[in-house]
Order: sequence, then C-alpha cells, then structure tokens
Amino acid sequence: MALERTFSIIKPDATERNLTGAVNAKIEEAGLRIVAQKRIQMTRGQAETFYAVHKERPFFGELVDFMISAPVVVQVLEGENAITKYRDVMGATNPEQAAEGTIRKAFAKSIGENSVHGSDAAETAAMEIAQFFSGNEIVG
Ligand code: CMP
Repeated sequence: MALERTFSIIKPDATERNLTGAVNAKIEEAGLRIVAQKRIQMTRGQAETFYAVHKERPFFGELVDFMISAPVVVQVLEGENAITKYRDVMGATNPEQAAEGTIRKAFAKSIGENSVHGSDAAETAAMEIAQFFSGNEIVG
C-alpha cells in the first residue's frame, strides 16, 4: 500500500466550539499523521477558489460565508490510503447519515456546518494542499 497525503480543514463550527484537539485525536487514532497544520482566517477569495467546483450549486454563497465566519485549521494528513481513510473517519457529508464513531457523527451540526473537509481524490488532494502549504511547511 502506498503512503499518501490528503488535505483536511477543521471548519468554523468546530474551531468555535474548541474542538480542534478532539478532531485531531480522532485523526491520530485512525493512524493518520498530521504532517502540517495551521490555524488561519480564510479570505473570501481563498474560500471561493477552494470551493470553485461548487460555484453553481445553490448553497455556494452560504458555504463561502460559513467558511470565513471564524478561523479554520488547515492540515496535511499522511498515512496508508490517507484519502479514503480520512473520508471514512470523517463520515458522511450529512451528519444524520454519518456512522457511529466518525467525526461528523460526533461533532457536525448540519450538512453545511459539518466540522471537517477532506479531499476526495489524489488529484484534488495535491491541488488543495498546494493552495495552502508550501513544500517546506510539510514535515513528514
Ligand atoms: P465539504 O466536504 O467541505 O465539500 C463541500 C461542502 O459543501 C460540504 O462539505 C458541505 O459542508 C457543503 N454542502 C454540501 N451540501 C450542502 C447543502 N445541501 N447545504 C449546505 N452546504 C452543503
């Protein structure tokens, strides 16, 4: 199996409730290593670029407003099959459908305020990591 990297965001609903450590504990319990991490206030431009793939969706404006409503923690996670593994640990986008033990089951408030983001594929992971981190900020 290949060592892989994925991009993660701990979203405003989680940072506001002081859940960064609790989310990180679930990430680490799953065997993923946090190899880069920073707390930032996302700008509107950064959020619009990050979610550009959703710009025609009816919830796009709400999503961008939410992502800039409070600080977020951006992360790079490393591990065997990190992309799939993190999506499993996050749980379904809608917390009502998320499995027991997942981050979203434990912490998410709604489909919009769903505590975490994780990349959906290797190509997206590389693009998302590059938007927020330079190579020397990632220490595996
Ligand atoms: P994320 O994994 O960050 O990718 C896109 C985000 O859009 C998703 O998590 C949700 O937070 C958000 N989203 C998806 N569907 C809806 C919806 N119906 N209403 C509001 N936000 C949504």
